[in-house]
Amino acid sequence: MSGSAGHSEDERAGGAGGDSARVLGELPAGFLLARVGEDGDPASFLELRRATDREGRGIRCDLSTIRLRGGASEARGMPVVRALGEARTVVDATAGLLGDAFLIAAAGREVTAIERSPVVYELAKDGLSRAMRDPFLSELLGGRLQLVHADARAWLSARAGTSSAPDAVLMDPMFPPKKKASALPRKEMLMLRELVGADLDAAELFEQAGVTSRGRVVLKRADDTHELAAPDWTVKGTTVRFDVFTKKM
Ligand SMILES: C[S@@+](CC[C@H](N)C(=O)[O-])C[C@H]1O[C@@H](n2cnc3c(N)ncnc32)[C@H](O)[C@@H]1O
Repeated sequence: MSGSAGHSEDERAGGAGGDSARVLGELPAGFLLARVGEDGDPASFLELRRATDREGRGIRCDLSTIRLRGGASEARGMPVVRALGEARTVVDATAGLLGDAFLIAAAGREVTAIERSPVVYELAKDGLSRAMRDPFLSELLGGRLQLVHADARAWLSARAGTSSAPDAVLMDPMFPPKKKASALPRKEMLMLRELVGADLDAAELFEQAGVTSRGRVVLKRADDTHELAAPDWTVKGTTVRFDVFTKKM
């Protein structure tokens, strides 16, 4: 097992894979990224937790916690999917722990999920690889979810006007807190916020999404926050809303 307070730098990166120095460089003081479970055990997982927290009490990407017993048809009824309309190819420009990307792929769309934080990317990659080993989840995903480590502004800019431009772009940036602004549970939101901070460049991402998307941009917001721009319409969820911006040709 890896990971409890007072570890060496290498242990703190425990099982992160990829470039440990890069990942560790982003960890705030007092946090560690550690694998819980025996190396090689398919049930082991990567978690981010405070050094003072007990093992297993941190945040991880666990797609099995997204209850989707109704499978693809239930996913198709989700507000995030309805907001995307007929889009066949979708870029989730703020992947986080893949909650939205999972629903969209389960609904049958091709999803490229982009995450720029090295730590969040490692957590998401670990969760996705476990999901791929789970028969129910991997069948739901159908190989339609691709995770990319990049800044979505640059990634989208490089594809503007090309055949790789997506039909739609979803954004769920970390706005400064007001009410619950994301589908992630509160503890996860707080830790993620501490790790990546507020996404103060969300307006730039929104502009680039509008340039590159062929059809629409969907912006996920808490229902008490202001828009970056006035949407064409809104799909309401229970605690969040999805503002839809269609491309004017
Ligand atoms: C609120 S979380 C997204 C949660 C996600 N919708 C989910 O269901 O798990 C926002 C994430 O977007 C990432 N992010 C923000 N701006 C980005 C950008 N320009 N490119 C890539 N990732 C970005 C942040 O690092 C953070 O992990």
